[in-house]
Amino acid sequence: MISATLEQTMRDETSVESLRHELVNRYGAPTSAVRVVRAPYRICPLGAHIDHQLGPVCAMAIDQAVLTAYAPSASNEVRLSSLDYPGEVRFRLDDVPDRQPGDWGNFPRGAVRVLQKNHDLGTGICGVTAGRFSAGGLSSSAAVSVALLLALEDVNGLDVPREENILLGQGIENEYLGLHSGILDQSAILLSKQNHLTLIDCQSVQYRLIPSHPAMPPYSILLAFSGLTKALVGTDYNRRVAECTEAATILLNAVGRDIDPAVLRRVSADEHADNQKLLTGAPALRAAHFFSEVDRVTKGVEAWQQGDLEAFGHLMSDSGVSSINNYECGSPPLVDLYEILIKTEGVYGARFSGAGFRGCCVALVQRDAGPDVAEHVRREYAQRHPDLAHDAPAVLCHSDDGARIL
Ligand code: GLA
Repeated sequence: MISATLEQTMRDETSVESLRHELVNRYGAPTSAVRVVRAPYRICPLGAHIDHQLGPVCAMAIDQAVLTAYAPSASNEVRLSSLDYPGEVRFRLDDVPDRQPGDWGNFPRGAVRVLQKNHDLGTGICGVTAGRFSAGGLSSSAAVSVALLLALEDVNGLDVPREENILLGQGIENEYLGLHSGILDQSAILLSKQNHLTLIDCQSVQYRLIPSHPAMPPYSILLAFSGLTKALVGTDYNRRVAECTEAATILLNAVGRDIDPAVLRRVSADEHADNQKLLTGAPALRAAHFFSEVDRVTKGVEAWQQGDLEAFGHLMSDSGVSSINNYECGSPPLVDLYEILIKTEGVYGARFSGAGFRGCCVALVQRDAGPDVAEHVRREYAQRHPDLAHDAPAVLCHSDDGARIL
């Protein structure tokens, strides 16, 4: 029997080769000029919705990725197609169209716009991109964006540091797409390392790679999909960020500090405890989520360093409760999926993956129990939501390295 990692490597090699052929067939690119960039999807076991408040977050890249085959174009034209979406995105570098709602072409257009602010882009690109998971929860949009940034930089001979690429990726979301997100996704995709937990301080953009403890039991990552899909800009994501801003403004005023930027990270846990009576309604709940989640990240890092997956998993599941009760995200099917997961034997812990408005849940599971857990969860969910079951697989995967040109 071949190992899961080897099987994944073989699948990747097949995809890389077929993407190369697609690029040559669709755009007539010379074979020798074709390169492939791999930008993994990410999970965030702890640190939900606190990146935009500049809190600390934990992440990992997984061994499932967006792949983009590309080559320089002979002009300043960008021509891209996708194996997952119809049509072609085509524009000139000196005439980048504005955002068009719901169009995947926003990612390449956004990538060019943000890069052009500080870099000269003279060479266009042709490319074909493919990714298995576009349903949400795994930061597929950030993975596509990072892949395109790296490809554009490569054909233009630009050597852009990873920290800058993180902010460029965030710029695509914030400035071009209108999503007020933090740096979690881009950091996880660019900085992660196989078998390590990536701890990112979203205030300083500093990070630490924390290796798995030698005594840590073998685990797998389970992605349990809900079958729900919807773009984040159309969710309550931005409203939640605004509610956090409101809470931060009230607390910063109370402690006599300026309100620029009005983010919860600039308030200490003690200051929050002393002044929380000033908060009511949604801002009170969002602040309660922020401060408890920061605490879970700190405790989670300690548990990880000790190889204590039971404790780490409990913190994940507690984070799930806070996402439901305090952050008030999670549609009913996603909450059902979460509840199925935490009741299943062999699961260390689970929570919504990503923003948690749609997409999937992520769980850490005992490696040996993984296939049974996946099958059980898929079956239980199908019973509760037969209408969504056809699009709701449960997929086992593992941690992996961050984005790279192959
Ligand atoms: C989305 C956003 C991230 C982060 C997560 C929730 O993935 O893009 O910036 O806020 O949701 O943790």
